Amino acid sequence: MDISSRTQVCASAPGKIIIFGEHFVVYNNEAIVGAIDRRCFGRAKLAKNLGVRIDSNLEIGNNPYTKQHTTNGNVQATRKLLEPLNIFCQNILKEYAPEIGLQIHIKSELVVGVGLGSSAASCVTLAGILRSIISRTASKEISPFDRKWIFENALNGEQMIHTKSSGIDCYVSTYGGLIHFAGLTGTSEITSIENHPLPLFLINTRKSHETSELVSRVRRFSRNRSKYFNELTRDASAICSTGLRAIAKGSLDEIGRLMTENHKLLREIGVSNNEIEKIIGICFRCGALGAKITGAGGGGCILVLTRPETIPALNAALNGLNLCSEAIGIANRGIIID
Ligand code: MEV
Repeated sequence: MDISSRTQVCASAPGKIIIFGEHFVVYNNEAIVGAIDRRCFGRAKLAKNLGVRIDSNLEIGNNPYTKQHTTNGNVQATRKLLEPLNIFCQNILKEYAPEIGLQIHIKSELVVGVGLGSSAASCVTLAGILRSIISRTASKEISPFDRKWIFENALNGEQMIHTKSSGIDCYVSTYGGLIHFAGLTGTSEITSIENHPLPLFLINTRKSHETSELVSRVRRFSRNRSKYFNELTRDASAICSTGLRAIAKGSLDEIGRLMTENHKLLREIGVSNNEIEKIIGICFRCGALGAKITGAGGGGCILVLTRPETIPALNAALNGLNLCSEAIGIANRGIIID
């Protein structure tokens, strides 16, 4: 396809929640991750000037959703996101289509820096747009080869933002669904979710974090207390394998219990804080089946497994704490080219 034969190329990609295994996945441990029904949307048009210009509502001031979800106006984090995104696109264009210039607009439902995979979803969306332009096809279908290309290039982009990224966020944003992430040969989709949906609820502390800082904090912990860290890693791996079987059976009590066990490991490696512990305590008092940090921690979002009938009590108990909470679903589709 010549982009000039279409007025614009659009793509979108989902954010994510991690049900089991964040941080430990950076050390080649398995994890379970789901794409969520909140997406990043991108639209590219041909521009007269060569290169790429990105404008975006990722900047706090332009994003009503983000404004509502953050307390500290995380302008720095959004800037830190837009600059590498620009370089990432420039690099791809220089290599594959140096003769064109693009104006790209990004609109995202994902708050930056709260553990929902906002940077990965942005990179996957942009890689999808660029792939569509470079492959010169008008088809909106994404071949397995193209999908792999999108994942690999998005991961390069994400690693400009979080140097030590495990790739889990870009993977699930590209492929969608609920994924047992276990390295190149072991990763597979968990299809039982269709018969046994997970009643998930998300609480945003509205305190953003810097993923790379938290990953470095855990790295220091793994070096300073290597024996203990190895024990915790083994526990995380066991939780993930048992969790996989519990998800396949749709055993909500067991999944909730394992999520809580997983949270205790995250607390041990130093990525929880008093506020998170307080919120998790409220969840249990209201009857939640399980609750944990999702993503890097240090603020960000808490993932709760809870039967729908518990939600009114939970909302009432959280009321007045200046948080944002909502039910969340697993999205089947990863990257979409429109
Ligand atoms: C971030 O969503 C998940 C972490 O495990 C980092 C990573 O896997 O790249 C904290």
